[in-house]
Amino acid sequence: MSRDQDDDKRAAAWAAAEEVTEGMIVGLGTGSTAAFLIARLAERARAGLRIIAVATSLATERAATAAGITIVPFDALAAIDLAIDGVDEIDAQCRAIKGAGGAMLREKIVASAARRMIAIADGSKRVARLGVAPVPVEVLPLARGFVAAQLAMLGGEATQRLRDGLAYRTDQDNAVLDCVFPAGFEPAALSTQLSEIPGVMGHGLFVGEIDCAYIAAAGVVTRLDR
Ligand code: 5RP
Repeated sequence: MSRDQDDDKRAAAWAAAEEVTEGMIVGLGTGSTAAFLIARLAERARAGLRIIAVATSLATERAATAAGITIVPFDALAAIDLAIDGVDEIDAQCRAIKGAGGAMLREKIVASAARRMIAIADGSKRVARLGVAPVPVEVLPLARGFVAAQLAMLGGEATQRLRDGLAYRTDQDNAVLDCVFPAGFEPAALSTQLSEIPGVMGHGLFVGEIDCAYIAAAGVVTRLDR
């Protein structure tokens, strides 16, 4: 990761952090861009801003707690004020692919519970059309073969995600199939098709959750609205 790219991630994260106001319940994303958000919100909390947060992954929960942000369990909440999270790809309509970090299931639940969701990214994530990055599909381990076959029927080429040579497991102990689809797929239609496959617990196509995005390139932050 170049320093410039890190600077852009920080700039996007700081712009979104400005939208957090007193008393909010904030959904904290997962990944290297979200790490800048956590650091900034911790700084603002030390300066007196009172917020509570929910985490989209165990890694984020640990990082936020260590930074001094109060994390509350998500299971008793029906809604939150604002979710802020990174993306792997984002298009002009704020549709995105997420899940390179494996947290897409919780990220989508938290995003859906949020009154507003803001994506944060450096300029490398901006695309004209989604689909260069694979779409991560979280799968109940026993359904892996079945789901891979169903994905193939949709034209997808699925590869099981590995970590250190072993099957990768999400925070929910599920498997991940990273799936490349033929260029030009329609994101909303594919999102529905993926969700309908029995054994699919979640996937990384975000087609209606993101309301706006802060994207920083060469130090300049641009705001995209859906
Ligand atoms: C994790 C995610 C991340 O938000 C996404 O992968 C972006 O990560 P980074 O900010 O490190 O590039 O979806 O599941």
